[in-house]
Parts: sequence; C-alpha cells; structure tokens
Amino acid sequence: MSRMCDDVLRRWQRGWSAAREWTDYAEVDGVIVVRIGEPDRRVEYLATEQHATTAARMARSDANPAGSSWLKITTTSRPRVAAVLHPLDLIRTERLLTISLSDQPSSQVPSPYELEVTATPGLINVELRTDGEVAASGRMAVRGADAVADVIYTVPPQGRRGLARAVMSALADAALDQGATTGLLSASPEGVPLYESLNWSPVADLVVGRTRLPSVG
Ligand SMILES: CC(C)(COP(=O)(O)OP(=O)(O)OC[C@H]1O[C@@H](n2cnc3c(N)ncnc32)[C@H](O)[C@@H]1OP(=O)(O)O)[C@@H](O)C(=O)NCCC(=O)NCCS
Repeated sequence: MSRMCDDVLRRWQRGWSAAREWTDYAEVDGVIVVRIGEPDRRVEYLATEQHATTAARMARSDANPAGSSWLKITTTSRPRVAAVLHPLDLIRTERLLTISLSDQPSSQVPSPYELEVTATPGLINVELRTDGEVAASGRMAVRGADAVADVIYTVPPQGRRGLARAVMSALADAALDQGATTGLLSASPEGVPLYESLNWSPVADLVVGRTRLPSVG
C-alpha cells in the first residue's frame, strides 16, 4: 500500500505542480518539498504517512510565516495522521483518485452550453460557456502517460446539469489524444461523488494541514 501510495502521490504531485506552474520542487528525506512562494502558501510538504513525522517537523521548523507552510499526507487513517500532525491545523481531507482514462464514460455537452478546449503539449484547459459567461471549467496537465485533473469547477447556480461531467469528458479525450492513459486527481469532499460517478477509484485519503495562525483576541 505504502509503495503504491508513494508512487501515486509523486506522480500526482508532478502533474499538479505542472498544472499550476510550480516548477521548484525536490525530495528531501522522503518528503516532496514544493516551493510555491505565494504569501499564504510559501511551501507544500507532501508525504505518505510513513514520512508524516518528518514532514510535520519540516513545517514546524522552517522560517516561513505562520499559516504559510502546508502539508498533504496520504493515509488510510485520518485520526492517526491527525495525531502525528498535532499541533498543526488540519484543514480538510481530500481523496487521491485514479482511473484508466478510457474507462471514464463519455458525456455530451448539454445544450445550450458551448465547449472551448485550449490544448498545448502538456496542458489542457476546458471551458463551458453560455451567453459568453463561463459556467464550468477545468484543467489537466499531461506528463507522459499521466494526466492530472485540477480546478474542476461549476458555477453554483448551474450545478447538477452535467457540466462537470462534460468538462471531465472533454479533458479525458484531449489527454488521450496527447498519449496519456492514466488519470490522477485529488478530490475535495464535494468533488468525490462526481468522480465516483465517472468510475474513478480511491487510492488513499489526503489529509491537508498547515502551520497554525496565531489566534486572534
Ligand atoms: C463538484 C462540482 C465540480 C460538480 O459540478 P456539477 O456540474 O454540478 O456536476 P455534474 O452536474 O456534472 O454532476 C455529475 C454527477 O456527479 C455526481 N454529483 C455531482 N455533484 C453532486 C452532489 N453535490 N451530490 C451528489 N452527487 C453529485 C452525480 O452523480 C452527478 O450526476 P447526476 O446529477 O445525474 O446525479 C461542483 O459542485 C463544484 O464546482 N464544486 C466546488 C469546487 C469543487 O469542489 N470542485 C471539485 C474539485 S476536486
């Protein structure tokens, strides 16, 4: 389990970083360190549970301002990781998912939405528009055989009309065209039912934490 998680986490991180143009990363003592440099997110430490203690120590002892060092830890037991990460703040639990891209069902774009696919080698952006406004969108980074989906979003009033399903279908088609075979993503709790309905399978939970902000008042 751990070795598979390790492999999937590393491959997902490579694609996720490519999708967000975060090019500065390295592996230190079993922890992937992604230097992002944004004020609220200077760095992300990614690790399997086996290396959670090291990742937590790195986050607690780096020189970044409070709240700007983030962690993502794969696990099958959130409480176990919570205990290791204490006293860091736990923000949410995502789920790392995978699929053989050809197993994802195809979906038509519902009327009257219009599909726009912008693909360059390694990066695909999809938007669905109506009356010139974006109603749903998503992105996929392709690295070799892996395609990593990111920022899948539907504008709330237009939810449950099959827009995200159509975005995922267009992304998968474009990724298959670029030679990818395997899809990877980290799903928010809100996104999990969508991906399960599209045949994606869970690999592990991904506990998201960050260094604690000073309490106000
Ligand atoms: C998650 C999200 C992208 C879904 O978008 P959507 O356009 O409403 O999804 P679709 O209409 O294409 O749904 C397709 C299927 O996914 C499942 N699904 C989607 N939203 C669901 C929900 N809130 N509850 C249960 N099932 C849901 C259903 O099986 C649905 O099929 P059905 O409507 O025929 O039952 C959207 O709610 C969103 O943008 N949320 C905020 C951002 C986010 O969490 N994105 C995911 C990042 S990983």
